Parts: sequence; structure tokens; C-alpha cells
Amino acid sequence: MASAVDERRIRVAPGQARFTGSSGPLTPVWAYDGTVPGPMLRLRQGEPARIIVENGLDEETTVHWHGIRLQNAMDGVPGLTQPPIKPGTSFVYEFTPPDAGTFWYHPHANSLVQLGRGLAGALIVEEAEPIAVDRDLLWLLQDWRLAADAQMAPGFGSAMDAAMSGRIGNIVTINGTVPIDQRVIAGERIRLRLANASLARIMALRFEGHRPVVVAIDGQPCDPHELEDGRVVLAPAMRIDVVIDMQGDPGKRYAVIDDYYDGLAYKLTTLAYDTASPLRTRPLDAPLGLPRNPLPEPDLAEAERQEIVLQGGMMGGGKLAGVGGMMGMATPGMNGGAAWAINGMSMTGDGHAGMAPRFTLKRGTTCHLTMRNETAWWHPMHIHGFSMSVLSRNGSPVPNRTWQDTVLLAPKDTIECAFVADNPGDWMLHCHVADHQMAGLMTVFRVT
Ligand code: C2O
Ligand code: CU
Ligand code: CU
Repeated sequence: MASAVDERRIRVAPGQARFTGSSGPLTPVWAYDGTVPGPMLRLRQGEPARIIVENGLDEETTVHWHGIRLQNAMDGVPGLTQPPIKPGTSFVYEFTPPDAGTFWYHPHANSLVQLGRGLAGALIVEEAEPIAVDRDLLWLLQDWRLAADAQMAPGFGSAMDAAMSGRIGNIVTINGTVPIDQRVIAGERIRLRLANASLARIMALRFEGHRPVVVAIDGQPCDPHELEDGRVVLAPAMRIDVVIDMQGDPGKRYAVIDDYYDGLAYKLTTLAYDTASPLRTRPLDAPLGLPRNPLPEPDLAEAERQEIVLQGGMMGGGKLAGVGGMMGMATPGMNGGAAWAINGMSMTGDGHAGMAPRFTLKRGTTCHLTMRNETAWWHPMHIHGFSMSVLSRNGSPVPNRTWQDTVLLAPKDTIECAFVADNPGDWMLHCHVADHQMAGLMTVFRVT
């Protein structure tokens, strides 16, 4: 009888990548199974998986299964949920993904350097009944700061990056290479899973001549909707699934532009239409709504309210003056130390044994969480172990029944979310700009 457990093995080790294609220069990287990004894992909703991770690096690592609502002991935060995986040893991760959708995995040890050197991969949990599309594609987007010789630029964790926008790079790759054309066929319907695995770069993708329909955010289905300004905004760690009907003309080319940063728009890639006549003359007439995942519905009337306030950074008005708490826990080797705080406390690094939870929730209660950004910077705030129903942004209700594990706060934004604390353990809540997390924009809460 076949084993019911889907078992994989992944080795973490130094390797090499060619970001600019097969004739380009080699860049030393750290890789899962020798490739950047790591192997795309496809699991099935509700079916147990076992992933054995072997550490071939000279330093400790862990794997965090970003967005998966799993058991706390499998969450991959060193010190907090598991002992780190020492060089030459392995760790067995076992979990049953409750939700179908687009997720990803990455280390949670020395995160800035390990993620920045290439450790990231996509994790797709398949729906039992997917929507009808002609092709299901994934673009794992990564941003790299390379020196002229194609080596990783030094200076991970500089105080300047830490206190400002983080380590934004100078080349962006799709699935590990600087993208050339993406070949498409007129009339086809594509489900495109976008995942931003960058350290710090926020992206806003505009598909010229096309109208993407958002069907899921952070793996969680939403009400299918077109974007008001046509831009798909992806902060670090976010995933957005869009469905695009390829309504362009055979033989034509359409740019995909990232214009998030004012004055710094660039062409990410091109949708290059085959000359073949259209697959169909009218868009496929099939529903776009994905089946919802089994998320517990928050009970707002009985909710426990919590607030976290993001503070610090350059131009932060000296808010860090009174920071106490865990300053002493700054990771050795980080030249910056603390630059940010949550509610006056800076937890730096990746995770530590004995981190005191910021708040405690009784299992089963609804947490109504307000996140307030007092800083002058953007922060994609990420919660481990849960997806949050996003209620409002600056007082306006958020439409489309949106659930997210990573929520982007613009400067001075206030966002309200809610989730049912049904998953016991100590969980992280942090900014996913890796420099910000390492420099104090992180906290822990407990579900008992
Ligand atoms: Cu993807 Cu704690 O993060
Ligand atoms: Cu996570
Ligand atoms: Cu941040």
C-alpha cells in the first residue's frame, strides 16, 4: 500500500546561479537543492506532508512555511518554535496544509543574509477542484543587489538600509533569471501566481493592454475583482493570484511594468504573443471564484482588542529614545542594532528562546488587531500561524472579503484586522522587509 505521507527531502547548501541566462556570469548563492529559487513544492490540501531539510551550510538554519496555518512546532522560528538546524544535521517538518493556495518557504535564521543569498521557494497547495484555466503559472520574484562582477554586493545589514527602505537591489528575477519574453497564446486564460520573495523591494505590476482579475491574496481566495488602477501591488512576502485572459493580438508584444517607486519604473518582462490565431474568440466562460478555505469566522462582537504601533526608522521623530526591552539581543554581526520598535520595544534578529509574548490570547477568542504605522516608511506586516480578515484601512472598509498573512502599511496608515486565535503556541508578528525585522520590527504573541 502506498504511504499516505507525501515525503520530500531538501538540501540547503552553497551553490551558483546565472541570473542573466545561460551565458551570463555565475553568482555564488545559497540554494535549496542547488537551484534559485528552490524546488517548487506542490502539496495537496488536507494531506500530510513530510519534508526533511538537511543543512549543508556552515551556519544554522530553519525553514519557515510562510502562510501555512500549521502546528507551532513546525513553524521554523529558531529558539521560539524549534532548535535551529545545526550544520551537517537535518530536521523533519511534518504538517498537513489546511488551506489551498500560493505559499512559499524561506529560512528564519540569519534571515536577511540567508534569504538575501537566495534561499526561497514556492509552495503551492492544490485545490481539490481548481478553476478552469489553460495554464497555471508561477512567477517567484526576487530582487538582488549585485556588484559589477555579479557577486552579491557586500553590506548586508548596513545601518542605512536598516533604518530606511531595506536592502533594495539592482536586478529583479522571475523564477531565478532576468526575464526575457513570456510566451503567450491569444485567447488563453492564465492563472498567474505572483509571489514577491524580495528582501525589501515593493512591486506594482501593470500588465499593459490586459486586465488581471485578482482571485486570491496570500493564498486565500477573495471575491474576484479587477484592480482600480490596474496595478498589482506586491510587498515582500505577499502573493497574489490573478487570472488573465490573453486578449492581445497574435504576434504583438505587451510590456509588464513595475512602477511602484516614483520615477523608477522599469520593464519587468514582456508578454510576447505567438503568431498563431486565437485559441478562442471570446474569453473563456467559466467562473473565477476559488473555493474558500476553512478559515474560522471572527466574532467581532466578542473580540479582544489589541493594538500594535510601529515606531522608529529615519525621520521617525526620535521615537526610539525610550526603547528598552530586548536591545541586548541584537544579533552579533548586525552593525545596526535596533532601528525600529513595536509598542516601544525592539526585538531584533530572527527569534530567540525566551522571547516574552507581547500579548496573550485564549484559544478560540477573536483578536481584533489594530496596526498603526507611526513611521515614515512602508512596512509589510506579517503574522505567523494565521490568516487575518482585513477589515479596514484608515477607516474605510476593505472590500472583496480579503484575508491576508502579510499586510502592507503605508506611512501613517492604520489597518484593522481580525482572526480567531485557534492555533496554540508562540507566534511571530513582524515586518517582512528583512532589514526591518532584524533591526527590531518584530514581536511575539501567545495563544494558550
Ligand atoms: Cu515569511 Cu516570519 O516570515
Ligand atoms: Cu510567516
Ligand atoms: Cu518594515
